[in-house]
Amino acid sequence: MTGALYAVSDLHVSYAENRAVVDGLRPQTADDWLIVAGDVGEVFADVERTLRLLRDRFARVVWAPGNHELWTHPNDPVTLRGVARYDALVAMCRELGVLTPEDDYQVWRGAGGPVTVAPLFLLYDYSFRAPGTTTKEESLRAAYDAGVVCTDEMLLHPDPYPDRESWCAARLAVTGRRLEATDPALPTVLVTHWPLVRQPTDVLWFPEFAQWCGTDRTADWHVRHRAAVAVYGHLHIPRTTHYDGVRFEEVSLGYPREWRRRGGVPAPMKRILG
Ligand SMILES: [Fe+2]
Ligand SMILES: [Fe+2]
Repeated sequence: MTGALYAVSDLHVSYAENRAVVDGLRPQTADDWLIVAGDVGEVFADVERTLRLLRDRFARVVWAPGNHELWTHPNDPVTLRGVARYDALVAMCRELGVLTPEDDYQVWRGAGGPVTVAPLFLLYDYSFRAPGTTTKEESLRAAYDAGVVCTDEMLLHPDPYPDRESWCAARLAVTGRRLEATDPALPTVLVTHWPLVRQPTDVLWFPEFAQWCGTDRTADWHVRHRAAVAVYGHLHIPRTTHYDGVRFEEVSLGYPREWRRRGGVPAPMKRILG
């Protein structure tokens, strides 16, 4: 096997310019895998169409949800909310043969392997609090005062959980158990939409936004679960950093105004291994 493991996130295909970028995503070999780390789009049919197109091209596609897939958007005929919406996305992916956080983690055996590739859905719990605040309420208030409020507050419903942090807690529990059960002899590639550690949010223009970006409870997961690489998106700040000696790859395409500012039509697929 000669392929490579690639990753991308935040394709945001509601933008025509981004759909054109997605049209250009092609494997280099018949063995290449593609990780899609969330925020494909917010309309269910758009997510399905994009993942089908990528599945037709790549040997394997591995998806983890972003906040946008989990929105119940007023323009979407699919009106499912919360867990029911996530379950429907997983069922759609299974139909397509796209791997989800609910499937057995597959082992990448190409160059740089073998590694267990684990797409994770963990959400966030407001523990990345705004500067100078100590409770969720204070942190949210600081965000509203700054005019920096994530649209999740309006569109990402936690049903049947009472709130998003409860859903996050449940995801952490079930996901932690699954990771503990992976082959201890193999390193992992941990794939999340929201970064596993807080440090990547330190460069956010608006620090109040960090509370929608992860949870303190995964601060040591890259070490505890033997990550060779941690892949994430959501911040729309593509870059490579290292924490505790582990490579973190932010692989966002982002909005057209963002990638145009970075210098024009991007080649968003990042080679992770191989
Ligand atoms: Fe995004
Ligand atoms: Fe996001």
